[in-house]
Amino acid sequence: MILSLDQGTTSSRAILFDEEARMISQGQYEIKQSFPRPGWVEHDPEQIWETQLAAARDAISASGFAATNISAIGITNQRETALVWDKVTGKPIYPAIVWQDRRTAEHCEELKARGLEEEIASKTGLVVDAYFSATKLSWILDHVEGARERAQKGELLAGTIDSWLIWKLTEGAVHATDVTNASRTMLFNLHERIWDDKLMDELRIPRSILPEVRMSGGDFGVAAAHWFGAEIPIRAVLGDQQAALFGHTCLEAGSAKNTYGTGCFILMNTGTEAVVSSHGLLTTVAWGMGDEMYYALEGSVFVAGAAVQWLQEGLGLIEEPASSEDKAKEVEDSEGVVVVPAFTGLGAPYWDMYARGAIFGLTRGTTAGHLVRATLESLAFQSKDVIGAMEKDAGMPLTGLRVDGGAVSNDLLMQFQSDILGSEVTRTAYAETTALGAALLAGLTSGIWTRDQLESFNKAERVFKPMMGQEERERRYHAWQDAVSRTMGWEKH
Ligand code: G3P
Repeated sequence: MILSLDQGTTSSRAILFDEEARMISQGQYEIKQSFPRPGWVEHDPEQIWETQLAAARDAISASGFAATNISAIGITNQRETALVWDKVTGKPIYPAIVWQDRRTAEHCEELKARGLEEEIASKTGLVVDAYFSATKLSWILDHVEGARERAQKGELLAGTIDSWLIWKLTEGAVHATDVTNASRTMLFNLHERIWDDKLMDELRIPRSILPEVRMSGGDFGVAAAHWFGAEIPIRAVLGDQQAALFGHTCLEAGSAKNTYGTGCFILMNTGTEAVVSSHGLLTTVAWGMGDEMYYALEGSVFVAGAAVQWLQEGLGLIEEPASSEDKAKEVEDSEGVVVVPAFTGLGAPYWDMYARGAIFGLTRGTTAGHLVRATLESLAFQSKDVIGAMEKDAGMPLTGLRVDGGAVSNDLLMQFQSDILGSEVTRTAYAETTALGAALLAGLTSGIWTRDQLESFNKAERVFKPMMGQEERERRYHAWQDAVSRTMGWEKH
């Protein structure tokens, strides 16, 4: 068996997989979200560890097997979330600052004013933003009394959630992270594959507190025997969006996945080439194994499932997100209605924080069905915007999109996604793609599976093929882009 630990933003989960990568059992605990001030988001690191441990123990006991049957652990985690802890006592010196936290926005503005944007982009593949870990770590060192001095003296350790779990599982024997998590810190040089001295200086992060960077499929030490009743080697570590890409077996350049959650996280494998984006996408590590590093382009849609929630809670047009499909089917098509859910501005490839949402094309005949249908279509249009930017950056066409997340059970949306992309959309049989990805990589690293075998583990449940003609696709997409352009800058009025 392989034990997959999936430490996400809202819960800690553990899933045990058998030798055919089928789920045997699982455990899951929610974690508390703290919002101490507007724009701040924190997690309790002790609770993260305790819930992750409890979830794993639950999964093992529910399986009916002893831990001696577990060959390896794979860890996947919410990315960017960062913490600092005491090397001796193991106590965190401050809560974990979550990826959504905006408290370091000003620090980022200052880095930009110092002209560091280009250097950071070319070295790390990232834009300067509070999203990433480095400014969060710097904030903790600046705001916890004595922390900077203690860090200089080598008394503290810092890392992302993967490092924290590795350190706890190995009882302090291993302080490491993997290349995917490192690539989300704004300190990791993608090309040289090391923590960048100049960036560490600029951000005032001492090297001594940072974990050692290892390949995602590799040796991360051994979980101590008393946690699960047997020693278990940790053989894979990678960020959750990258794990989902791996779990979808998007192993070839040009393959991509889209996770439809509150927003959408889209990643496209670009092979062993780190492609620099000229369309506002991020360059990130997809995974590393042996000597090879694979890269991905990443883009996100801010408002996806959140737009469907708005139909329910804001407009009262549907009773629950699941009924959006039936509501949309009440009408033949959206009859020229276009909904642009730019509630919080627009991300890639537009990057306009002053854009605001709008509805276009209303007539006296417009019904709730049209509005719901047009809102669902906006998820697909926005995903196409990001994928189109990826295709341009990578100079390669999409070879197919694999999908997961809450909205993928909506057949109407998936068909429209395929229609508007003009390529196949594959819904896989197995919904827990993230946990599966970490398990597959751990199994591959341990020599339990071969690369060829992996593809047979996450079979297609349904493949949506484009049925829309090229002319209509272009006309509809053109109308969408026209609508988007009219929402830009709206907030400035
Ligand atoms: O970049 C943040 C992402 O890794 C969080 O994913 O699934 O925990 O919300 P999730």
